[in-house]
Amino acid sequence: MSGPVSTELSDSAEKLIRGRHATRAFRPQAVPEETLRAIFSLAGAAPSNSNAQPWRVEVVGGARRERLADALQAAHAQQRTSADFPYSEGMYAPVHQERRAAFGADLYGALGIGPDDHAARAAYDAKGLRFYGAPHAAFLFVTGDGGARMAADVGAYLQTLLLAMTAYGVDSCPQGLLSFYGDTVRTELGVTEGKLLVGVSFGYADASAPVNRVTNERAALETTTTFHV
Ligand SMILES: Cc1cc2nc3c(=O)[nH]c(=O)nc-3n(C[C@H](O)[C@H](O)[C@H](O)COP(=O)(O)O)c2cc1C
Repeated sequence: MSGPVSTELSDSAEKLIRGRHATRAFRPQAVPEETLRAIFSLAGAAPSNSNAQPWRVEVVGGARRERLADALQAAHAQQRTSADFPYSEGMYAPVHQERRAAFGADLYGALGIGPDDHAARAAYDAKGLRFYGAPHAAFLFVTGDGGARMAADVGAYLQTLLLAMTAYGVDSCPQGLLSFYGDTVRTELGVTEGKLLVGVSFGYADASAPVNRVTNERAALETTTTFHV
């Protein structure tokens, strides 16, 4: 049996899509503004239901990033969380929990944090509120009624954004963690509409950090996809 016909574009797509990884340690260098504009302009080409484009995107860097990181850490210390989208452990099926456990073991293993060291895990998670040292973060809000269909559109925007970043040599980490602090982000950035779905920390990876060498396998194709062809 012969393999699929690959093209220049499919080769590039394989490289781009498989070349994106969640980065959790960054160098401090800022991304040039022209590059930021190119990336976010490309991300805006994402598809959405009826082309409604229900995303509202806030991008931070510099002094604003510092202030926001301080405010997030203060909110965390005072347990002032405000999630616009509900969260519970119960939303995961057993198979999801298995994958999450395997991911957690790899991640905390790379950090040298033991499975029962809850204090060290919590301290590491708090670093996420300083964007893992990234010079920038983007916050993706869902506008309109903020329901599941609108959120799906913003999910499509998220992946388009991550791939646009990869294409421009910019590393990223999408962070659901940041969505637990919707009120803090809104106050700091003066945002008046939308529900906060996710934040994305981004910049240039610190290649020497072991945490950036964690790779996550994916489930076998047949376990998620059926071909009725
Ligand atoms: C919506 C969403 C939320 C995420 N939230 C977090 C987070 O809060 N903290 C974190 O370190 N990684 C977070 N991640 C990154 C995932 O852990 C990562 O994408 C997954 O383990 C697969 O690894 P890869 O992106 O390197 O392929 C999130 C990813 C997505 C898509």
